[in-house]
Amino acid sequence: MARKRLGALVSGSGSNLQAVLDACAAGKINGEIAVVVSSKKDAYALTRAEQFGVPGFWVDKDKFPTADSYNLEILRILREYRVDLVVMAGYMRLLGEEVLEAFPQAVINLHPALLPSFPGGNAIEEALDYGVRLTGVTVHFADAAYDTGPIILQEFVPVHQYDTLDVLAARIHKVEHTLLPRAISLWADNRLRIEGRRVYIRSKQ
Ligand code: GRF
Repeated sequence: MARKRLGALVSGSGSNLQAVLDACAAGKINGEIAVVVSSKKDAYALTRAEQFGVPGFWVDKDKFPTADSYNLEILRILREYRVDLVVMAGYMRLLGEEVLEAFPQAVINLHPALLPSFPGGNAIEEALDYGVRLTGVTVHFADAAYDTGPIILQEFVPVHQYDTLDVLAARIHKVEHTLLPRAISLWADNRLRIEGRRVYIRSKQ
């Protein structure tokens, strides 16, 4: 099967982008990162892309009069780099319908909690403050709302009673760095099938 071309959307440090870049380089994913698009100018993820020789772009939302025109610019870049799968790797914005419709069943999001618990941008802190004993990581297909699409993989992470936010976040990030590449690999090997909200994983041929 041809190697898939991945387009990564980022907003932050890009540790998950790094995990995917490393997994592709190690042959654990039948694909490669073709382009990185950041919603933030100073995202360290862009430096990581550069270090790997991957084209990276900052799309400045202030230069676009509407959310639609901003999303169309992202779509234009993804198309220019002939992306097969869009990976939201710490992308802190809602992805527009324009992009979702152009990539049916081919946009993946990462979330640092066990969805449907703790959706939104402060999931780790909210889980800690709520007092749950278990939280985790979810990789799911994206849809037009925040953190609601069909779930591909989840893994739990224990919360210890004296955890600080930093300690818990580090434990969660470690799991993200294996779960996201695994989900991408399943997609790239054409092993995922969605029926309603349920995602079935085909066994390896
Ligand atoms: C991750 O925890 C991801 O789940 C969340 O944002 C964080 C991004 O981290 N949506 P990084 O930029 O990959 O280091």
